[in-house]
Amino acid sequence: MDSSELRTRFLDYFKEKGHTIVPSSSLLPDDPSVLLTTAGMQQFKPYYTGAADPFRSPHPTLEGKPLGSKNAASIQKSFRTSDIDEVGDERHLTFFEMMGNFSFGGYFKEEAILYAKEFLDSLGVSIEYVTVFGGDKDVPRDEESVKIWEKYGFSAAKGNLKFMGREDNFWGPTGAEGPCGPTTEIYAGGIEVWNIVFNEYYQKADKTLEKLPTPGVDTGMGLERLARVLQKKATVFETDLFLRAMAELPEDLDERIRRIFGDHTRAIAFLLADGVLPSNKEAGYVLRRLMRRLLVYEHLDARIATEKLLERVVETYGHPYSNLRKEFILQGFRAEKERFQQSIARGLKELQRLPALNARNAFSLYESYGIPYEIIKELGGQRAQGLAREGFDAEFAKHQEISRAGQERKFGGHGLILNTGELKAANEEEAKIVTRLHTATHLMQAALRRVLGEGVRQAGSDITAERTRFDFTFDRKLAPEEIRQVEELVNKAIQDDLLVTYEELPYEEAVKTGALHFAKEKYPQRVKVYTMDSKYPEPFSKELCGGPHVQRTGELGHFKVLKEEAVSAGIRRIRATVK
Ligand code: SER
Repeated sequence: MDSSELRTRFLDYFKEKGHTIVPSSSLLPDDPSVLLTTAGMQQFKPYYTGAADPFRSPHPTLEGKPLGSKNAASIQKSFRTSDIDEVGDERHLTFFEMMGNFSFGGYFKEEAILYAKEFLDSLGVSIEYVTVFGGDKDVPRDEESVKIWEKYGFSAAKGNLKFMGREDNFWGPTGAEGPCGPTTEIYAGGIEVWNIVFNEYYQKADKTLEKLPTPGVDTGMGLERLARVLQKKATVFETDLFLRAMAELPEDLDERIRRIFGDHTRAIAFLLADGVLPSNKEAGYVLRRLMRRLLVYEHLDARIATEKLLERVVETYGHPYSNLRKEFILQGFRAEKERFQQSIARGLKELQRLPALNARNAFSLYESYGIPYEIIKELGGQRAQGLAREGFDAEFAKHQEISRAGQERKFGGHGLILNTGELKAANEEEAKIVTRLHTATHLMQAALRRVLGEGVRQAGSDITAERTRFDFTFDRKLAPEEIRQVEELVNKAIQDDLLVTYEELPYEEAVKTGALHFAKEKYPQRVKVYTMDSKYPEPFSKELCGGPHVQRTGELGHFKVLKEEAVSAGIRRIRATVK
């Protein structure tokens, strides 16, 4: 059975059982607590906690339509950075497709286990054994799952049901907090093929568990692994998912390197297609490492043509992933190749010259020449024995802190004629611009609250002559349509040329007017309440603020959002400008 048939069979089976089929979400998640999407359940997180309603809330990957069912199934593009160092062995992958079925109060253990068993039976996959959570001091043993498995002939007595602890049979949460619970896992063909999670708890940031009001089901089955079992191959790299691309490599190339190419070319294609660009930060840094690792191998062996593999990846995956566009991906790869080309030879030479490698000089090889850790570790051989990922990462983090401190020094108040903490200007010209941006920021907060609801509160702001940067409480990415609405509202308020006035009041009274303010901030006894417009029954904007502001909003010019992104869990950041 080839993998496209497997995809179809999986989705058809769960559709038949009343699941809404949901497209994969992007590898770049809405959930700011993770760098990349690591599991199918991520796009469903709010349903488990009750924050979203499957019948009412617009679902992001269904073009804003609600799920319309308490049960859903998907094949999710997933990426696990934690496995990068392992790639090259028989089974680890960075990018993979995860087939999963999910329920948010629709069904629980009985059906979840039945469906898994029945679906595998329908494919002719025989289950070798299953594992069940054996219990610990916080969570009891999962007796319910034991009873269900016993009905299908699996028991501890027979040896085909094993109990495991927290490490193996307890999932989650992804990020700092979230839904989690005991799991039962299915093994076939010598590997774990299906992980069935029973989300019974919510793990809070302080690591304590709380029972969820409605328990949920979250399952995940790696498509590559199941394809391996069905196609009776020794490793995932011999399945139809990798064959075409890896056939482009010289046959006598070391098997480990062949697998690294098999894995990384898929990952590169999918990351680029989802809008990641190579950089020194976050997801971009992950992509850069993957690309540069392959570029070094390519540099060392002229027979390797990574671009050919990328082309085959697109051919293998173009259906069902229509956002994989060949030219776009090749261009993205070539651009990084050009950037790296000039330093690669010098970097490798320097690497060979160093008598012993440690975190410090390895990081400096990365910083000066862009040679990734993986390559240093590998090509360093004996000399890199004392080098470990943790040490390298620590150097990396230290460097980022230093450059942040450098930024702060630059803006530390020297040579600034205006520095309120929020507004910074180096000369008269800039002072005029930041004042306009400051007024625009008030309008933007008012507009955000109109579009996204009263839950939006200011969490910070920083205004320079280039832009205003505004942080606010909100728990997901904004839709392009919402950003457009915010821009429109602000530009309308600018066109209306609203009058900007303020009134000085004692703090207590000011707060009573309903003006926006920071709950935690220490304000002086007398404060200013800035109001924009008195024409409406309610002014467009009313905030406690020290100023300065323009006199009429008509002075601002055209308002535009430049960027919207996550800062941390529940906090978004917008950069915007007026021209
Ligand atoms: N979230 C679980 C996993 O990723 C099951 O889908 O394994």
